[in-house]
Amino acid sequence: MQYKNKNFHVENISTEKLARKFNTPFYCYSYSRIKNNILNFKNHFNKINPLVCFSVKSNSNLAILKEIRNLNCGADVVSKGEMMKASKAGIIAKKIVFSGVGKTYSELKYAINKNILLINVESLSELLAIEKIAKQKKKKVDIGIRLNPNTDAKTLKQISTGRVGDKFGVGEKEFIKLVKYAKISKFLRLKCLSVHIGSQILSHKPYEKMLKVIDRLIKKTHHEFEFVDLGGGIGISYDKNSKKFDFKTYNYLISKFLKKKNCKIIFEPGRSIIGNAGVLISKIIYIKKNKNKNFVILNAGMNDLMRPALYGTKHQIVPSKKNKKILNKTLEFVGPICESTDKFLTIKKFQSIKEGDIIIICDVGAYGMSLSSNYNLRPLPAEILIKNSKIKIIKNTQKLDDLI
Ligand code: LLP
Repeated sequence: MQYKNKNFHVENISTEKLARKFNTPFYCYSYSRIKNNILNFKNHFNKINPLVCFSVKSNSNLAILKEIRNLNCGADVVSKGEMMKASKAGIIAKKIVFSGVGKTYSELKYAINKNILLINVESLSELLAIEKIAKQKKKKVDIGIRLNPNTDAKTLKQISTGRVGDKFGVGEKEFIKLVKYAKISKFLRLKCLSVHIGSQILSHKPYEKMLKVIDRLIKKTHHEFEFVDLGGGIGISYDKNSKKFDFKTYNYLISKFLKKKNCKIIFEPGRSIIGNAGVLISKIIYIKKNKNKNFVILNAGMNDLMRPALYGTKHQIVPSKKNKKILNKTLEFVGPICESTDKFLTIKKFQSIKEGDIIIICDVGAYGMSLSSNYNLRPLPAEILIKNSKIKIIKNTQKLDDLI
């Protein structure tokens, strides 16, 4: 994604062209970015040879899941819907892991019938529910137990999941209890220890702490885990100045952890695979002058892209067509939704713009479309994939008639 002759391009297609062809707002993804992200991710860990299970919650578009399956990834799912979608994309059951604190009885039954790779259990009650279903079906079910390692991921508090007060996983004492129970159960096969301490993590240090906790705990349980599932969470640079995640050190730490162990690593990346592979293309409806700033009112709103309103996060905003005129006025890019949190970014220096111009919101491939909603009774936007110079509509704009 870059400017060519002052025009923003996704691969070799200009966003000006796309915006003439399709109604804004819409998401647009680059296949080569997705592919490179996956290959780079795997390359960083090539000695470890992990199973990479893409986190479907970050982006569940079927066409994208198919591409990801073709690049040899499995899936990390958190609901029956995500499990069904992963299967529909052709991801085999033995590459699907199922997490979540509130898996229902019927979701567990579905997962057990499918013989997925692992159900990562998050409580004693869930363990007992799985055992009960397994007993009814006269089956032995492969499970993992999700540990809450009480490790601060040093990320936004809303997306931290590994501290003692967070609802995810079980603490050390409970973990040991569940291991003991599962080991002697006739209907459970304890294969995995899983963790996921949070999302958008930019330092390897929390992972280092987490690995120490896991290492100590594995020794305590004397259990030979076939898998250690380290979850996802690796962050991306949403602005040019933020530091990049140190894959080399993380890889080194994991290799050290694996010494004298005979287990396979599973990763569940979402954002690091798809985050920077998508943009949201929108149009300026109005520019409204205000005392100290101008409101730039886009036709994309918080229903299309929830992250800024929900977490206060910033996504870069750039013009589709560059010009040299600098505006010395603060601009606040907002959406049309009737909420004051429906704002994307405030920018002090931007180029001159006018109503009708196309505006690009960057790095929205992860948790963009998947968090979108029909709030204000707005239809969900379309999704477009650019692959090998071809423009593919991978989801149509939702029809208003279907909403009404
Ligand atoms: N595995 C588990 C068990 C998870 O809960 C998550 C994300 C992942 C893997 C993938 O994490 P990633 O590699 O994408 O960081 N909506 C928020 C992010 C929520 C993440 C939830 N869990 C956002 O927009 O920042």
